[in-house]
Amino acid sequence: MTYPNTYLIEHPLIQHKLTLMREKQTASASFRHLLREISLLLGYEITRDLEVVEKTIETPLENMQAPELSGKKLCFISILRAGNGLLDGLLDLVPSARVGYVGLYRDADTLEAIEYYKKLPKHIHNRPVIVVDPMLATGHSAIAAIDIIKSSGANRIKFLCLLASPEGIKNFNEAHPDVPIFTAAIDRELNDHGYILPGLGDAGDRLFGTR
Ligand code: URA
Repeated sequence: MTYPNTYLIEHPLIQHKLTLMREKQTASASFRHLLREISLLLGYEITRDLEVVEKTIETPLENMQAPELSGKKLCFISILRAGNGLLDGLLDLVPSARVGYVGLYRDADTLEAIEYYKKLPKHIHNRPVIVVDPMLATGHSAIAAIDIIKSSGANRIKFLCLLASPEGIKNFNEAHPDVPIFTAAIDRELNDHGYILPGLGDAGDRLFGTR
């Protein structure tokens, strides 16, 4: 099955670490550490098209034209709270990135996303923006977060997750066909409570040891 505008990043190291994360006996500290490691590998892929320009530098032996990142600074936006599990590794990779947060919770009955917090960097128009949340389940939170981020002026957005459901991808693509999805796996389905199957459980609870 292929999904429009969706990139599956299937590196063996990512798959191995994801398997460890899925196992229910994996403790929070290991879960967090594994997600941080995976975020470095996902971050490497999703930043592949960052612009570079050549500048003249001096090595100990001679001058050369060497590439450096150019253009507007990258912006990472974490969907609270589980997004922070991906954010930390991405910031190791691109320490100069700008950072924003969107806080959303799921209404237990309707599964709709309700905003409770927003802090975005200024001037995100034309800045490459990567929105992160480990789980693309119903897609409601990601869709709502990107609605909010677009209304702040962002127009170059990618969405990064760890696990996606087919339903979430479909809903997301319908709402934001211009925003590519990058994910490490696409699982079978959602259950009646909006959890991904087989999945890994509640990413926020497993990251932060709440439950
Ligand atoms: N959020 C999670 O943390 N896990 C799921 O399976 C779905 C949404």
